[in-house]
Amino acid sequence: MTEKLWGGRFEEDITPDVLDYTLTTDIDVRLVFADLWQDIAHVLMLSARDIIPETAARSILGSLLALQERSERGELNLRPEFEDVHLNIEQMVIEDLGREVGGHMHTARSRNDQVSTDTRMYLRRVQLESVRANLALIDTLLSFPEEDLLAILPGYTHSQAAQPVSVAFWKTAHASMLLRDVRRLRGAYDRTDESPLGACALAGTSFPLDRQVTARLLGFGDVLSHALDATSARDYLIESASAFAIGGNNLSRMAEEVVVWSGHEYSLCEVPDAYATGSSIMPQKKNPVVAELARGRAGRTVGTLVQLLTMAKGVTLGYSCDLQDDKPYLWNAIDTYLSTLKVIAGQTRGLTFDSTRGEDLCWDNFSTATELANYLVSDHGIAFREAHHISGSLVSALLKRGSTLRDTALGAEILAELGHPVEEAVLARIFAPRNAVTSYTSPGGTSPDSVRDVRDELRRTADAHRRWCADTEQKLDDALRATLRAAREVAGGADAAKVLATVVAELPPLTQA
Ligand code: ARG
Repeated sequence: MTEKLWGGRFEEDITPDVLDYTLTTDIDVRLVFADLWQDIAHVLMLSARDIIPETAARSILGSLLALQERSERGELNLRPEFEDVHLNIEQMVIEDLGREVGGHMHTARSRNDQVSTDTRMYLRRVQLESVRANLALIDTLLSFPEEDLLAILPGYTHSQAAQPVSVAFWKTAHASMLLRDVRRLRGAYDRTDESPLGACALAGTSFPLDRQVTARLLGFGDVLSHALDATSARDYLIESASAFAIGGNNLSRMAEEVVVWSGHEYSLCEVPDAYATGSSIMPQKKNPVVAELARGRAGRTVGTLVQLLTMAKGVTLGYSCDLQDDKPYLWNAIDTYLSTLKVIAGQTRGLTFDSTRGEDLCWDNFSTATELANYLVSDHGIAFREAHHISGSLVSALLKRGSTLRDTALGAEILAELGHPVEEAVLARIFAPRNAVTSYTSPGGTSPDSVRDVRDELRRTADAHRRWCADTEQKLDDALRATLRAAREVAGGADAAKVLATVVAELPPLTQA
């Protein structure tokens, strides 16, 4: 027998390097709050169901509440020799009360249902924080000044100038994309928000558990009923990693635009000084390092997703230690994603655009050649394919003479030669990038009116997500408060079954019920 909590069948303790190889105490620091909350809910339920003696439940709850306070003061340290957060806390309770009393806490539970319960509880908070961080960035993008509606940017396809768009159009495009990241995170929340607690090691238990009560005390929306599935499932976490990876990729695309457009060759935008750094040798440099890092770090979130899929794919149902490695990678993705969201929101707030430069590039790169084709369709009754050809011939002739659409006199001359005369003044109107932008009034188009409509719609959607966040945070806070209140009452001598009946009735029902 060894000193380990599981040491009964062992004659020899693990070696220091095996401990080093297997421990998770450093990673589990983030799970302490969830593990304690979970322990308290579990013991309350065990007592209410008379599964453990009332006196033991009272003492254990008193001990756990003291640990919870210590943890809130930042004074609860996990000891590596006890492997993980679960054994650490059980050990602390046993050191406090002795094994005869403290040893009752782990009845009808396993680290296998415990770890997934903790991880889901932590992940819920992260998902909420990610939704909030996205909403803050979306708010920045949607709060553009009125002049952005007619500030011109070249719109690109194939990295070639395509048609003029407005800065507000670009900002709302990113907001629209980010709102899908929010929906994805909320979808992941739904699948995370199911309680595996009570599944025990893999097969359930002979003790008369109440899984619904613990689920409600822990603020879960539902119980994940099937014990084997509940202890084996990691898809909820892979789905989150996928939401972080897709979100990270979307941020990377915006970062790429900022990096390229802030370079001298484009000179379309400039990041605030506070979001760039200089060179140790080249005095003129202003490097957009925040955007570069955001772009590069998308590699970490993608890497986590691939790591988790690969880790899980060969694990047969039932817990295997392979699964223990889900957390370090996930934590890395979480930290990367959240910090990127926050820093990109700051950079976006101070990002400036050079609209004159945008307009010049549109003129120089034939961005409004489509407008001539459209004009020939609407004013000369020519079929679009034919009009496309005429406008293309004009572009070709101008290019051969080293000119652009700016030379409307030459343009008028060439069109007359082509047999489709258009007055020079009309050409000047047609080719002006601002006029093109103003004319794209189709729903979702780049005209100021269309962009205003889209912005208002996106704002309404963002507000609904914000309300969901507030309601959900409230639900989790209420559940924690209810659990602690119940624990204090039972620790003080009240009957656990009666206390839980009142406390749980005040909490929202499970979705399943
Ligand atoms: N620390 C473990 C993890 O992070 C907890 C579960 C361990 N279970 C076990 N039977 N060894 O996954």
